[in-house]
Amino acid sequence: MNASSAEKGLFISFEGVEGAGKTTNIEYIADKIAQGGHEIVLTREPGGTKLSEAIRELLISKEYPEMHIKTELLLMFAARSEHLNTVILPAINAGKWVLCDRFTDATYAYQGAGRGIPEDIIATLETLVQGSVKPDYTFLFDLDAEIGLGRAKNRGETDRFEQQHIDFFNKIRDKYLELAKSDEPRYRIVNAQYDLDTVQKQIDQLLTDILDL
Ligand code: TMP
Repeated sequence: MNASSAEKGLFISFEGVEGAGKTTNIEYIADKIAQGGHEIVLTREPGGTKLSEAIRELLISKEYPEMHIKTELLLMFAARSEHLNTVILPAINAGKWVLCDRFTDATYAYQGAGRGIPEDIIATLETLVQGSVKPDYTFLFDLDAEIGLGRAKNRGETDRFEQQHIDFFNKIRDKYLELAKSDEPRYRIVNAQYDLDTVQKQIDQLLTDILDL
């Protein structure tokens, strides 16, 4: 098979409030998928390319505490446009499985529910940047926002988002749960309140169910 006739890969995103254990569990999932014989690209948003990582630095830096929410929104989509076109789509077209730590659902949750930007504005930018591209599956690591934020703060220095009041994160958790309900075929919820072993047992089950791993 040559590259042009390669079967398309899968696009899987991971979401959740800060401290829900995404990073650790994505690595666990990546190992499982690699063991299943698939080539993977592990990436994140905002970020995933040199330019998008530079935009990420602007977004999370506490040097810009008063960044306008529309600037924040546009920077998220600027980073996404670069990432999608230069990393994600080429990888999927080459048959690789892309595992992305956050994607556009995070924009609906953080900039939409958190910051109060109307959803139709986000949807317009989503169409502009992505067309109809969406993840095939999204794993939501669901956790009480206060527990998650506590875990994130224990890890060390906080970023610009982690400075927000708990109300902001409660809205984000609720929005993620609403998104999961409204797009059930795409979403899988992992209950992240348990110890690592128990969380990974849930993950094993989901990987068997949906990805035959
Ligand atoms: P991370 O800590 O999961 O790497 O994400 C960095 C921060 O960026 C996190 O607080 C969530 C936020 N974020 C948004 O506000 N909107 C988005 O679209 C994305 C992808 C992330």
